[in-house]
Amino acid sequence: MGRRSIRKFEDKTVPKVVIDKLLEAGVWAPSGMNSQPCHFTVIENREIINKLARRTKELVPKNMPLPESLQAAFKSDKDVVFYGAPLLILISTKKNEDLRTLNLLDCGLAAQNMFLAAYQAGLGSCFIGFAAFLNQDPKALAEVGIPEDHELVAPLIFGYPNETPVSEPREVKLLKWIK
Ligand SMILES: Cc1cc2nc3c(=O)[nH]c(=O)nc-3n(C[C@H](O)[C@H](O)[C@H](O)COP(=O)(O)O)c2cc1C
Repeated sequence: MGRRSIRKFEDKTVPKVVIDKLLEAGVWAPSGMNSQPCHFTVIENREIINKLARRTKELVPKNMPLPESLQAAFKSDKDVVFYGAPLLILISTKKNEDLRTLNLLDCGLAAQNMFLAAYQAGLGSCFIGFAAFLNQDPKALAEVGIPEDHELVAPLIFGYPNETPVSEPREVKLLKWIK
């Protein structure tokens, strides 16, 4: 419950031992038929993260309704996609029409395992769904090592948090409880 999405980071790199722990947490997530379909791409290079952020912004449809807070930011040069995070981990999976739903769920579960491991290690994290627009540019993904027969499912940022967001109370949307 203490984990919140973090969008402001300290200017501090994440040690390799910690990155290894995140990857290990991802690998140990459950997966349909234990297929373990998630592939991980680790990017610590700021230039490359910025390049992917710029490309993502170009790919977001011009008519996409964006929250007001993002509209101006999207037109600026600021990295409003990955928020200047020092670490980007892309979870991708091999395209497979029959197993797509299962594979997407598996990647989501791996992501959440990694978020919780990150939280335990004092790191902040955020799922960056916007970056899935990069699937429309397989060459940009290939440049960072993601093969063209993969779908990018879960773009995740990590870093030492420089904010402490609080969440509104949440409600359990319980439909029915049958005894
Ligand atoms: C599938 C998914 C996609 C998301 N995409 C973005 C995104 O592109 N940019 C962003 O800032 N946050 C993104 N988020 C973070 C959500 O905004 C955040 O999880 C939500 O506001 C709840 O806040 P919490 O994570 O602090 O509980 C995404 C979260 C999920 C699960």
